[in-house]
Amino acid sequence: MCFSTPPRLSHCWGLWLSCCSSCAQDVRKARPLPLLGNLLQLDLKNLSHTLLMFSKKYGSVFTVYFGPRRVVVLAGYQTIKEALVNYGEEFGERDADQILQDVSQGHGVLWSNGDSWKEMRRFALTTLRDYGMGKRACEDKITEECRYLIEELKRLKGQASNITKPIHSAVSNIICSMVYGSRFEYDDPEFTSMIERTNQNNLLLASRSIQLYNMFPWIGVLFANKRKFDKLADANKRQNLKIFGRLTETHDPQMCRGFVDAFLVRKQHLEESKMTNSHFHEQNLLMTVIHLFAAGTDTTATTLRWALLFMAKYPQIQDQVQEELSRVIGSRQVQVEDRKDLPFVNAVIHETQRLANILPMALPHRTSRDVHFQGYVIKEGTTVFPLLTSVLHDESEWARPHAFLPAHFLDKDGQFVKRDAFMAFSAGRRACLGERLARMELFLFFSTLLQHFRFTPAPGLTEDEMDLSPCVGLTLCPPAHKLCAVPCM
Ligand code: HEM
Repeated sequence: MCFSTPPRLSHCWGLWLSCCSSCAQDVRKARPLPLLGNLLQLDLKNLSHTLLMFSKKYGSVFTVYFGPRRVVVLAGYQTIKEALVNYGEEFGERDADQILQDVSQGHGVLWSNGDSWKEMRRFALTTLRDYGMGKRACEDKITEECRYLIEELKRLKGQASNITKPIHSAVSNIICSMVYGSRFEYDDPEFTSMIERTNQNNLLLASRSIQLYNMFPWIGVLFANKRKFDKLADANKRQNLKIFGRLTETHDPQMCRGFVDAFLVRKQHLEESKMTNSHFHEQNLLMTVIHLFAAGTDTTATTLRWALLFMAKYPQIQDQVQEELSRVIGSRQVQVEDRKDLPFVNAVIHETQRLANILPMALPHRTSRDVHFQGYVIKEGTTVFPLLTSVLHDESEWARPHAFLPAHFLDKDGQFVKRDAFMAFSAGRRACLGERLARMELFLFFSTLLQHFRFTPAPGLTEDEMDLSPCVGLTLCPPAHKLCAVPCM
């Protein structure tokens, strides 16, 4: 590929091979239609799979049109790492779908850019660390929540049940503790409505009509789902404002309970020092809190559900996990510092994340300026999808990419090995903000649950009969399954 005459990727009207000289025929075949783009060639229900197939044909950098929206797809470890890390500034903006732009209005930490995003991200990272992440306080909050979750599962008496709700409640409570400074009872109506709304929101976001709204906003307002989504988003904002009101009334400046308190203190300081252009305003508080919930609950809870289903499907692996836990930990509470002594447990959690691949296209990025990349010019403002699935399931990186094989993360002596191609949290400046918290939650919840319960398929269903084909939604989540959590301690 010659750098002197780079093809202008973002100006091409079609799917492009990264090796340009031999691509003419394929480009013609894949030529997109006016207005519809490549829509007829894309399976919107399983987009990441279609894009993975395209990457096998068109290479590691190619363009696809979602209606009029032009998207550059990046595939493979080297390409994604080079873009997100070596060209971190250029590929480091967030591209929000229309519906998310409508709600967020450029505020918060997930769908924002520029100085406001930078400040919110930095503040969220440091406050979550100080009021939770990395400190004993966070570990204590998770282990306390483990106890509630165990009690909840014990109440099921080993009978086949859908354990999605208790798992989501436990994980949501961790974010509640970090953000508001306190947890909720699982049957608290305020809490259950919060979780229910998040689930409905996620279903709507993955619906065809909302996807069409994102491509053609001018016709999308006709869709009932768009109106439903707006209503839910308003209710979510109202509920948070009510909670902020309660927190403000009971606020003691000497004692910060969580993110909201810390934000209000900072806001007040800046107002007192007459800082007029501060990003610490109510809109940013509201959207950052909503974004921490949106990004931090479904992801971790879905991963945990995958892990428990894999245990039920592969009982020999569950045996090995439980053997290691009882040999190294016994009946005492697992702690974060035990992770180094539990290589098999650690490998199982990593392998769950790798195979489950819950965010197969990360979140959409956008180029901040024109960028010369791997022989192409990609124009400023182009949407970019880092296809994480192409790394997590790459045949050249993993011995058996489509099997559940904890040995992918173990050396010949059974010790845990880090793998560069483990990119479940993405990389670079927009990489997951909650990675440390998520890792801690996954380790403590998973290990504690496996100490207390044996997970088996519902009676009448064999392990082989368990169908683990993912349901495609906002995340790739497990199909609805009943599991038996049989107490073993
Ligand atoms: C972004 C994965 C848990 C907060 C992301 C991204 C991925 C990801 C792939 C997109 C990165 C990119 O666009 O390149 C995961 C997984 C999780 C998890 C697999 C759990 C197993 C969490 C938790 C929190 C969180 C617990 C909250 C504390 C965020 C935020 C962003 C993000 C705020 C946006 C960062 C930004 O745009 O600057 N996550 N995440 N995540 N995650 Fe997570």
